[in-house]
Amino acid sequence: MQIHENIDSLRAARAGAGRVAFVPTMGNLHEGHIALMRQAREHADCVIASIFVNRLQFGAGEDFDRYPRTFAADCEKLAAAGVEHLFAPDESVMYPQPQRYHVDPPAEQVSILEGEFRAGHFRGVATVVMKLLNIVRPEVALFGKKDYQQLMVLSNMVRELAMPIEVVPGETVRAEDGLALSSRNGYLSADERARAPLLHHLLAGIRAAVRTGERDFARLQADAMARLSAAGWAPDYVAVRRRLDLQPPVQEDDVLVVLAAAKLGRTRLIDNLEI
Ligand code: PAJ
Repeated sequence: MQIHENIDSLRAARAGAGRVAFVPTMGNLHEGHIALMRQAREHADCVIASIFVNRLQFGAGEDFDRYPRTFAADCEKLAAAGVEHLFAPDESVMYPQPQRYHVDPPAEQVSILEGEFRAGHFRGVATVVMKLLNIVRPEVALFGKKDYQQLMVLSNMVRELAMPIEVVPGETVRAEDGLALSSRNGYLSADERARAPLLHHLLAGIRAAVRTGERDFARLQADAMARLSAAGWAPDYVAVRRRLDLQPPVQEDDVLVVLAAAKLGRTRLIDNLEI
């Protein structure tokens, strides 16, 4: 695997690479990321990954400074997965001066769910992903359903701005006990890690109830919030939404997803299940 720290080097490699599939990440790679790399292989001759911890998408008081940085181990995993090129710029390459031009996703997409609790987050995500896509110029870009709203925001960005890129979603990879893999799981104490699958279990319960005909979403949401609180979590939201635009479902909507975010100790976890 070739590692490129600057844009010119990456672009030179990309020029001769044929059809490219691109998987952007912030590093601290786990099996969820690696599954995206393997899926990328099915779409292209050449797989390019990036590792860049993007300051723009972290709010004040969030975990930018302590976000886990494990570059050597990440490179080994990417090489083992057959990734041809890694773009690993540092901040002086991505943001040689403070970024002044941004991609602003529409309010109805970023004022809800994650956006309500992480002001400016999706603006930071959309801006860095636009910049990465302009650098790599892939035919295909892969994003995980683990970050369901991020996938929606980025798919809409690519479509509405007529970028010649196919966005491919990847399924969420979980631990055996149901916990969705996440770089932030490493923040959990042993006790918190043992309790963390509750989030997935509650989502699975809601999915089962809706599949068997339950339509009182408000009650399902409130029950799950109460159970999280009773178990010592601090839930931000549990929400049944329509998949299309993540807005609350109206009566005839039946293509749904349930999403949740909650803090366990100092660690904020998110998860979702398509119903
Ligand atoms: P990061 O959290 O490193 O995730 C990189 C990609 O891996 C994202 O598309 C994410 O949805 C996917 N992913 C994470 N956990 C997963 C899991 N358990 N199963 C499947 N896919 C999973 O998301 C970001 O980085 C950043 O916001 C980024 C898009 C790179 C922009 O900075």
